[in-house]
Amino acid sequence: MAREKNGKNEHWESNLGVVLAVAGSAVGLGNFLRFPGQVATYGGGAFMIPYFISMLLVAIPIAWSEWALGRRGGRDGYHSLPGIYRAAGNGKTFWAASGGLVALVPTGICMFYIFVEAWCLLYALQYLGGCLRPLGIEFSFFPTVDSGFKLGDSASYEAAFANFVGMNGDGSLFQNFFKSPVVLATFACAAANFTLVYCGIAKGIERFCKIATPLLLLCSALVILRVATLGNPTGVEGQSFVDGLGFMWNPSRPLLDESGAVVGQTSVWTALANPEVWLAATSHIFFSASLCVGAIATYASYVKPNKDIALSSLTAVSANGFCEVALGGLMTIPAAVMFLGVANSESFASTFTMGFIVLPNVFGLMPGGEFFGFFFFSLLFIAGITSSVSQAQPAVAWTKEALGLSRGASVALTAAVALTGTAIVCWYTKNAAALDAFDFWIATFMPFVVVFLQTALAAWVWGADKMTAELDRGAKTRVPRCFGFVIKYLTTPYLALVFAFWCFKNGSGRLAGVAQNPVELKIVLFLVATGAALIWLTIRASKRWNVEEEATRERDVKNETSDVSA
Ligand code: TRP
Repeated sequence: MAREKNGKNEHWESNLGVVLAVAGSAVGLGNFLRFPGQVATYGGGAFMIPYFISMLLVAIPIAWSEWALGRRGGRDGYHSLPGIYRAAGNGKTFWAASGGLVALVPTGICMFYIFVEAWCLLYALQYLGGCLRPLGIEFSFFPTVDSGFKLGDSASYEAAFANFVGMNGDGSLFQNFFKSPVVLATFACAAANFTLVYCGIAKGIERFCKIATPLLLLCSALVILRVATLGNPTGVEGQSFVDGLGFMWNPSRPLLDESGAVVGQTSVWTALANPEVWLAATSHIFFSASLCVGAIATYASYVKPNKDIALSSLTAVSANGFCEVALGGLMTIPAAVMFLGVANSESFASTFTMGFIVLPNVFGLMPGGEFFGFFFFSLLFIAGITSSVSQAQPAVAWTKEALGLSRGASVALTAAVALTGTAIVCWYTKNAAALDAFDFWIATFMPFVVVFLQTALAAWVWGADKMTAELDRGAKTRVPRCFGFVIKYLTTPYLALVFAFWCFKNGSGRLAGVAQNPVELKIVLFLVATGAALIWLTIRASKRWNVEEEATRERDVKNETSDVSA
C-alpha cells in the first residue's frame, strides 16, 4: 500500500500537470543557450545526426527506466531518491546509499543554475527598462550601461557582461552587496524557487508549470516571428534567415581556400568519424533532457499508481526536443548568422557567449530589439525556474524522508545547503571558475556515474520485465517489447564507450586541474563532503526504514490473525 513516509501522500493533480512539470524540468537554459552553442561548435548538421541517434538510443529508453523507477518507489510511499532506489533494489542498503549519492546531483546543479537564472532575470529587466522608455519610465541595472542595452560595438557587449557577472575578480559581486544586482537577484530567484517547492507538488510546482508553459511558448513565438521576418538585414550575401537554417542543418561545410573562395565541401563522414561529436551530442542530451540527475525519478514518484507513465515520458522527451530544435534552433542560430555571418561562427560557439554577448549584440542591431530582448530573456528566465524547482525538490523529499523533517524545515534546510553552494559560485567569479567547476563535475561527470548505477539497478537488479510491467500499468501506450533488450545491450554499451572516450579525453587533464587550481579543489572538496554526509545520513535512514517496515509487517500479520480468530 502507498504510505507516505512522513506526512500526507502527495500526488500530481492531472496527467497533463506531470507532463508539463517534467517537460518544464527538461526545457531550460540548455535548450536555448547550450544547444545552439554546441551546434555551432560541432558544425551544424554534423552535430544533429548524433543528436537524433542519442535521442532514440539514450534519451527515450533511459527516461522510461527513470519514470518506472520513480513510480515504483512512489507506490511504496517513497519520494526521496534513496527510498526510490531502495524500493527497486529489494530493500538493500547499498541501493539506498546510491540514491543518497544521486540526491547530491540535482542539489549541486541548483547551486549554480539559480545564479544564471538571475542573470536572465536582470537582462530581461534591463531590456524592459528600454521598452518602457516611451512611457517616461526608464531604469538600468548595469552601472555602466544605458537601459535598453544598446551598445556601440560588439566588444562592449562582452565587457558589459564580464563586469556584470564579476568575471574580473573574485568577490567583486559582494563588494557592494546592496548595490550589486546580481547577488540580490540570485537570492530573489532562490526565494521564488523555494517558495514554489514549499507550496507543494500540485499546488506549487504543477500550477506554476501550467502558467509558465503558455507564457514560454508565447515569448518564443514572438521572438521567432521577428527573426524569421527580418529578411536579409545586413544586405551581405549568405546572411539571410535561410542561410542561418542552412548553417544549422547542413552536415557538410564549404571548404575555403586562402583567398576565401569556395573550393569544395567537407565530407559528412569525416565529421561523423570524430568521436568528440558523439560525446558532445550524448552529454548534451543528458543535460538537456534532465536525465540521470534524479529530477525525473522524483517527479514520477508523485504519479498515482494507476496513471500512465509510458506515454507521459515519451511526450516529455519529445516536448524537450521540440523546444530545443524547433524553438531554440529557430531563434538563436539564424539570428546570429544573419547579423554576424557564418565566418564569425566561432564567436557564438559557447553557451554563455551566445546568450549574453552575441544575442544582445544582435538585439542591439535589430529594429525593435529592446522588445525582443525582453521577450527572449523572459523566456529564458521562465524556462530556468521550471527547471530549478525540479532540482530543489529531490533534496526536499530526501530531508523529509531521511531526516523525518516537516515540509517547512526540509525546505529551509535544503535552501540553506543550496545557498551555501550558490554563495561559493557567486564569490569565485573570476573567469567564472566556480561556475565552470560545478558545471563540469556535477552536470557533466556525475550524470555518467548515475546512469550506470541507475541502469544496473533498473534493468538488472529490479529487472527488465518488472520495469516493463511497471510502464504497462495504466499505460496509454505500450512500450516496445524490445525495450529491456535495447537498454541492456545497446544503450549501456554505447554509453560505456562514450564514457571511456570521455575519461580518456578529459579525465586526466581535469583531475590535474583540480590539484593545480585552488578554487576547483575547494569546490570538489565541498561537493565530496556534502555527498559523504548525504550517504552517511541515508544509510542511517535506511536502517530506520527497515525497522519501521518490519514493525508494519508484524502489525499487519497480527491484524490478519486477529481477524481470522474473530
Ligand atoms: N535540462 C535543463 C536544461 O536544459 C538543465 C538540467 C540539467 C536540469 N540537469 C537538471 C534541470 C536536473 C532539472 C534537473 O537547462
